[in-house]
Amino acid sequence: MKNLKGKVAVITGAARGIGFALAEASAEAGMKLAISDIDPAALAEAKKSLDAKGAETLAFPADVGNASEIEALAAATLKQFGSADLLFNNAGLFGTPALLWEQELADWEKTISVNLMGAINGIRTFVPIMLHQETDCHIVNVASVAGHLVQPFLGPYQATKFAMTAITESLYLELQTLDANIGVSLVCPGFTKTNIMGGEAASEPSQEEMSGGPASMIRSAMTEGVKSGLSPHDVAKQVIEAVKNDKFYVFTHPYALEMIGKRFDQVLGGTNPLLEGALKERFTE
Ligand SMILES: NC(=O)c1ccc[n+]([C@@H]2O[C@H](COP(=O)([O-])OP(=O)(O)OC[C@H]3O[C@@H](n4cnc5c(N)ncnc54)[C@H](O)[C@@H]3O)[C@@H](O)[C@H]2O)c1
Repeated sequence: MKNLKGKVAVITGAARGIGFALAEASAEAGMKLAISDIDPAALAEAKKSLDAKGAETLAFPADVGNASEIEALAAATLKQFGSADLLFNNAGLFGTPALLWEQELADWEKTISVNLMGAINGIRTFVPIMLHQETDCHIVNVASVAGHLVQPFLGPYQATKFAMTAITESLYLELQTLDANIGVSLVCPGFTKTNIMGGEAASEPSQEEMSGGPASMIRSAMTEGVKSGLSPHDVAKQVIEAVKNDKFYVFTHPYALEMIGKRFDQVLGGTNPLLEGALKERFTE
């Protein structure tokens, strides 16, 4: 999708963090915006700030896990702008670090609903619209480095991000069989300085965390990593470049590729998974 000017970008989870930065970057590229989030108050603030910079913005509160709310977002976008050309399936949450078998069922369901069903609802709703439009379109799925690497205690988050990798590659291949004018990108950020570990989005600590178990080490490592992460603006800039250049894999943090290379070496070499870092020091030495 070389020319973004005058096109319409739909962004989920756009009230803050990477989603808001994607909205800003899309507006800077001359796009009209349909921004959506589950948090209506923060979404209204985001709209104010984007409008103040001269963007043409529709703000539509919706829960990505609810298919009919995403259909309503699409209808409102088409009503206001007449098309939907670039979709960012960005909304996501981190969940609660815990042992797999102690993760609350409600946490599994919530993480799957937002991180995976959110993108599925976006694809089911917007791909038919884009195919019908027959214009140049693009879908960006925001996964994570966690869609390629495994750490313990993050079961639901990693399961949904690995699944996101699978459905996004599948989407790309399926669209090729139709010779459709819809590009696809899989964005895999590493640590990015957002509110994902804090504020209202923060999950309650699991039992295992409260008893000072290793899951609490993972939460503090993640919190520290996010605090000193890349700015969402830098991530968004790389994503917009990828859309313009029809690039599929978007690894915004170079260290990620090195770590993924090590994982593939293990897989190809038939070596068993190993604990890393502080967990390795505490449990294997
Ligand atoms: N921050 C990081 O280090 C990092 C790293 C890798 C991947 N990611 C991914 O980037 C994406 C954005 O995360 P972020 O870091 O900007 O987080 P964030 O918490 O700052 O922003 C996420 C936004 O999504 C919204 N949201 C949550 N549940 C929703 C729902 N059900 N429906 C609609 N909106 C909902 C929140 O209200 C919030 O505004 C996520 O998919 C996340 O997994 C983040």
